[in-house]
Amino acid sequence: MSNDPYALATEAATALKSATGVDAFDVALVMGSGWVPAADAIGETISEIPVTDLPGFAPPAVAGHAGRVRAVRTESGKVALIFLGRTHLYEGRGVDPVVHGVRTAIRAGAGTIVLTNAAGGLRPETQEVGEAVLISDHINLTGANPITGATFVDLTDVYTPRLRDLVREIEPSMAEGVYVAFRGPTYETPAEVRMCRILGGDMVGMSTVLEAVAAREGGADVLGISLVTNPGAGLVGEPLNHEEVLEVGRATAARMGGLLAKVVGKL
Ligand code: 6GU
Repeated sequence: MSNDPYALATEAATALKSATGVDAFDVALVMGSGWVPAADAIGETISEIPVTDLPGFAPPAVAGHAGRVRAVRTESGKVALIFLGRTHLYEGRGVDPVVHGVRTAIRAGAGTIVLTNAAGGLRPETQEVGEAVLISDHINLTGANPITGATFVDLTDVYTPRLRDLVREIEPSMAEGVYVAFRGPTYETPAEVRMCRILGGDMVGMSTVLEAVAAREGGADVLGISLVTNPGAGLVGEPLNHEEVLEVGRATAARMGGLLAKVVGKL
């Protein structure tokens, strides 16, 4: 196994192709907490393996993060790679394991990366629990970056405008918002939630931004979608818990899966 994270992703892509029997993927989707049950709607499973069968992948650390990767064929004939769960920065393994799936998928042919997550809503005035919001941009407060050295990647359009347009053709009323990422694993304090609102954030979470940056570095297009599972701390007064996040995911699985299937069909 290579020490270099990019070479390790190349090794993982080779292993992925032989383990799944798929030579090239069109698209990869990362299913965040709450999204795993939605995966079944995307297409027919070709094969599925534990991510730990591939070089460089860490075992899952969190309930609701299955740690498996599935190859599927969609109704439109596209071949998709679906990560059922992801590695988070708060797991303490550093930034490379967080973006290893995205780097691997790109090396296995995926030119489009769909990143999903469960997020706290920062705008309860207009957002509903169970609502999907298109990520238009992000604010990275994780303190981390997957790129090291003087590689200056432009992030003007991290979340590919054409892909957002495509989703709005399917769901014209879908809201767009700015995703603010913290390292976690604590949820934000009420004061941090107020700060995020002042900064222009609409959703808050602990994932996605590092993967989006790694995908752009790798030349892939990125689509990001947040499932609002609860309002941010202090906005309505109820304490937050991970079980609630998973429950909203189960309750919305069919709707979110249907949306993703249509999106992949239109790529
Ligand atoms: Cl309120 N914050 C963070 N950081 N992640 C979340 C969340 C809140 N709700 C779901 N995931």
